[in-house]
This record gives sequence, C-alpha cells and structure tokens, in this order.
Amino acid sequence: MPNLAIIGYGKMGRLIEQLAPEYGFSVALKYDPLLGPAPLLPADFETVDVAVDFTVPEAVVPTVETIAPLGVNLVVGTTGWLEHREAVERAVRANGIGLVWSPNFSVGVNVFFRLVSEAARLLAAQAEYGAWAWEIHHAAKKDAPSGTLRKLVEDMKKAGYTRSIDVSANRAGMVPGIHEIGFDSTADTITLRHTARSREGFARGALKAAQWVIGKKGFYEFADIVFS
Ligand SMILES: NC(=O)c1ccc[n+]([C@@H]2O[C@H](COP(=O)([O-])OP(=O)(O)OC[C@H]3O[C@@H](n4cnc5c(N)ncnc54)[C@H](OP(=O)(O)O)[C@@H]3O)[C@@H](O)[C@H]2O)c1
Repeated sequence: MPNLAIIGYGKMGRLIEQLAPEYGFSVALKYDPLLGPAPLLPADFETVDVAVDFTVPEAVVPTVETIAPLGVNLVVGTTGWLEHREAVERAVRANGIGLVWSPNFSVGVNVFFRLVSEAARLLAAQAEYGAWAWEIHHAAKKDAPSGTLRKLVEDMKKAGYTRSIDVSANRAGMVPGIHEIGFDSTADTITLRHTARSREGFARGALKAAQWVIGKKGFYEFADIVFS
C-alpha cells in the first residue's frame, strides 16, 4: 500500500484522509500548524511515497522546496500561488521529482475549461459579443477571484479573445463553488456554468493524481492526466 502525506489538514485534507483508503493509500503523515507548531522534517518523509498539498498560497513554495529534495512526489491543489510557478517548477526539475497541480481537480471543471476555450475561440472575431467571468464560493475561501476563474480568463485570452472580460467574485455561506462564463450581444446570451455539488470531486481527482504521479518525473497539470 503506498504511503500518503497530507499537507494541510483543513477541509480538503480531512476529506482526502477519509477517501484515501478507497484509492489504496495509507496515510503516513498529516502536517498542519493546527496539529502542532513543529516544522516539516526530512525524517517525517522516510516512508512517504507521495504528498498532497491543500494549504494556503504562501505555504506552497516553502513546502515544495522542503519536500522535493527528499525525492517525494507531490500533488498541489492549493490555489493562488501561480505567480511563483517558476520557483516551483525549478525545484521539481532540479530534484527529479514528479508534481501534478491544478486550480481544480474536478474532472468536470477540466472539461469546462475546454468548452470555455472553444466558445472564446469561436467568438473572438464576433465584435458584437461582450464577455463576463464570475464565481461564488463559501465565505471562508481566502483567495478571490478563484484560481479556477483566473485560469478560465487566461484560457479565453490564449484562445484569441482579446476584448475586455468583466471579472467578479462573491464570497458567502457554504457554496462549494460555481463558475460562470457568459457572452452577450444585442441578439442573444450564451451562459456556460459549472456547479460543484461538494468538495468530494476535488478530493477524488487529487487522489487519482496521487496514484498517477507515483514513479513519474516532471511538472504536470491535472488536465494532462484527464485527457491523456
Ligand atoms: N484544486 C482544487 O481542486 C481545490 C479544491 C478545493 C480547495 N482548493 C484550494 O485548496 C486550499 C485549501 O482549501 P481548504 O478548503 O482545505 O482550506 P482550509 O480548510 O482553510 O485548509 C487549509 C489548511 O492548511 C493549513 N495550513 C496553512 N499553512 C500551512 C502550512 N505551511 N503547512 C501545512 N498546512 C498549512 C491551514 O491551517 P490554518 O487554518 O492554521 O492556516 C488549514 O488547516 C485553498 O487554496 C483552496 O483554494 C483547491
């Protein structure tokens, strides 16, 4: 049974612990400031095969830089750290480990990314259409707009949609996550929406990524796995 380390024992970390046995994992380590102030130590990882990180944006670079030299592969679900992507990629390549990241580990959202890109590509030359991007999440979510919405907007631009995109976010209650992309003209409106029912889809996707990354080297996005 491969051994899993859970970095960040919050809502996602607890769910991953609960579902890990279904994916053949034994949880060998849980690390979170809430469980005690001790720093991450190399000895803690001696029996770990793969680590899954769902923490806070500022923890991602130090965590990767601590774990990568130990030769332990990683799955990073934390959002809001992508401006430090170069540092993370460097640590992964320099230490010859494998890492899978995604702002969203739901299979459905990764299909949604593709549908939005295609709509943006088709409407890029249709100047009468304006676009918006909106999301809502539970009040405890720390980053806004979400990493998923940032990626959707970035993907629309990469698909050739160069007009302005009005971006907004709400934080309220317990919403697990809704993302919406819309295009509007005098003739009609197109609304593309993804609604997450719970966090379970994210946790299951991260555990699939953890199974996949064992024995791999390199820097991968979850979509590389979903569509391969
Ligand atoms: N990619 C996806 O599919 C996906 C899905 C859901 C959520 N997320 C992202 O995953 C992250 C966590 O979400 P969540 O809902 O689980 O949040 P959460 O309930 O707030 O849990 C995060 C946990 O990480 C802990 N933490 C902070 N710094 C840490 C460190 N250096 N090392 C280890 N643990 C640390 C936090 O402790 P304190 O409370 O003491 O700070 C907290 O217990 C967020 O960035 C969220 O946007 C991604």
